[in-house]
Amino acid sequence: MEQIKTIRSLRAYVTEKRRTGSKIAFVPTMGALHEGHLELVRQGLKQAGICIPYIFLNPKQFGDGEDLDSYPKTLETDLDKLEKTGAQAVYVPSAADIYPPGFSTTVSVKGISEILEGAHRPHFFDGVATIVTKMLLQCLPDIALFGEKDYQQLLVIQKLVTDLNIPVQITGVPTVRDENGLALSSRNTYLSEAEYGIAIQLNKILAGMKPGNDAHAAHEKLKAAGFDKIDYCTICDAHTLLPPEENTQEKRALAAVWIGKTRLIDNLPVSE
Ligand code: PAJ
Repeated sequence: MEQIKTIRSLRAYVTEKRRTGSKIAFVPTMGALHEGHLELVRQGLKQAGICIPYIFLNPKQFGDGEDLDSYPKTLETDLDKLEKTGAQAVYVPSAADIYPPGFSTTVSVKGISEILEGAHRPHFFDGVATIVTKMLLQCLPDIALFGEKDYQQLLVIQKLVTDLNIPVQITGVPTVRDENGLALSSRNTYLSEAEYGIAIQLNKILAGMKPGNDAHAAHEKLKAAGFDKIDYCTICDAHTLLPPEENTQEKRALAAVWIGKTRLIDNLPVSE
């Protein structure tokens, strides 16, 4: 597996692969890779032939007091996992290359970025939109893959690609879960055994949410299960993430909850 460290060598690699007729898939990550990330790589390989994941722990999407410093960093095992999964190359740029001194541009997607996650983590989606735009323009892949685990992020990225006419197809990949239904997350490593026992209730409570049934009931169940704080737990229109209307066809239940110092998010489609 080739390790690509600069924008120039990424562009050269992609140009060369294109010249020989390959389609390129791109998989943005912040490292600390697990089966969820690797599933994106597998889907990328299926859909495009060449798959280039990137690893970049993006400081701009972490707020003051969030877990940037303690975020797990496991580069050597990450590279090993990617190679075994079949990625032909990995992009590992330096922070100095990505944000040189004087960097002063922000990509901000209004509306959908301002609710749910955006309401609780005000700088988060600007940080995500800015890095993903930069990376897509550096690589110019045919497709880029994102997990439904971060459902609102997927919609924000679809919107920015449409609004800015970036010629890349955005593909969502279903959430990979463990044997207890807990959505895999790099942050799950923060959980103690007792906290894990609480965390595995989240997907079950989300699965029990039906349109029309009281979100208050879900909040009560979360509290009874032992979650310490609920940022939100609600059913939304799956396309706009606004409250569903009479004629809303597809709905999604989304939640962000805390166990001690660990914040977990998850979401599931809601069936009638
Ligand atoms: P990160 O949390 O590392 O996730 C990278 C990608 O893996 C995202 O598209 C995320 O939705 C997906 N993913 C994470 N857990 C998953 C799971 N259990 N099943 C399926 N997919 C999963 O999301 C980010 O990084 C960053 O915000 C990023 C987009 C890289 C921008 O910095």
